[in-house]
Amino acid sequence: MLPELLTSFSLHKLPALHFGAGSFSLLPELACRFGNRPMVVTGSRSFEASGRLSWLLHSLGRVSAGYLHRRVEGEPSPEMIDEAVAAGRRAGCDTVIAVGGGSVIDAGKAVSAMLLQEHPVERYIEGRDDFLEHDGRKVPFIAVPTTSGTGSEATNNSVISRVGSDGFKRSLRHPAFVPDVAVIDPELLCTAPRALTVASGMDAFTQLIEAWVSPFASPFTDLLAFSGMEYFIRSFLRACRDGADDHAVRGDVAYAAFLSGVALCNAGLGIVHGFASSIGGAFDIPHGVICATLLADATKENILQLRLSGSGQRALSKYAAVGRLLSQRPELSDVCACDMLVETLAYWQHELEVPRLGNYGIGMEHITHLAAVTRSKSNPVELDPDSLRKILFARL
Ligand SMILES: [Fe+2]
Repeated sequence: MLPELLTSFSLHKLPALHFGAGSFSLLPELACRFGNRPMVVTGSRSFEASGRLSWLLHSLGRVSAGYLHRRVEGEPSPEMIDEAVAAGRRAGCDTVIAVGGGSVIDAGKAVSAMLLQEHPVERYIEGRDDFLEHDGRKVPFIAVPTTSGTGSEATNNSVISRVGSDGFKRSLRHPAFVPDVAVIDPELLCTAPRALTVASGMDAFTQLIEAWVSPFASPFTDLLAFSGMEYFIRSFLRACRDGADDHAVRGDVAYAAFLSGVALCNAGLGIVHGFASSIGGAFDIPHGVICATLLADATKENILQLRLSGSGQRALSKYAAVGRLLSQRPELSDVCACDMLVETLAYWQHELEVPRLGNYGIGMEHITHLAAVTRSKSNPVELDPDSLRKILFARL
């Protein structure tokens, strides 16, 4: 595929990255470079059970003036963030370290963004009626993922939600929120159970493919997104099947997830993440599961509508490149490669036993409303409500 002529694009900053087995041991020294009183945000008890939390806190106790440990559960809500911020202020925290899955990283990112602000976090969340623009003042933030999915260790936003009939799932966003440091240690990822590996991995792959076909993609994000897909495809199924304690396999998927974060931050996301926002605010369903269950049918509908539009050749060629990569068949025509892509995604969905939307209480009666409130300005083609309903219907 010949590159297009360069047009204008922007790049957000990147975190300093420390990648590799054992890189977790760098944390105390890295934290000291930024402050003297860190707040450590963690989630699951499995991280505590591994003994790494007590090692980290003990080490921080030796090299800092003291620390605050805060455990968070579930996806971050405005109340969770405000309470953690109040505790951090009382303890005089000047740095935040988050060790955990995407929700924990998002929680730590939001706390680091709010420690120097005077209003509750809800005022700064996109789409609120009384939205207040954040000025970017924050304390340094170190992100240490224990799952490979959201890429939050590389993005400029924190997703905050309140689930319910008047619920929402929206971002706290500013270019300054990109973590100052990301530490990706594959040894931390080896305890992730299969269902979590599937859902978080499919989130990362969705982010790579949506950034790859986004109308806002640039040569820079294309390089990262395609490279991320290569690493992901090499190891994802092994990570789900038998790669639980294989650092190299876990490392491939973790690196792909990091690249997905950089790519989405700079190129945007498509319709699957549009659904993730609308469905995630109304139903208690993990973000990764929404991505895993909708990616195949959303890709199929995007390809169909691109073909019907008669002007989607660029995006179709990009989908075809992913189809050739997945099938390892470079001789395929664009049409066959696009079909191969959809078939492979559907095969993954079946093989990996991805849950349906109906498992989370979503039924026919919800489809029309969800289709009406779902938006995506970075999808490669505009989808009308009929197309959106079709995607949801296929996965009830
Ligand atoms: Fe995502």
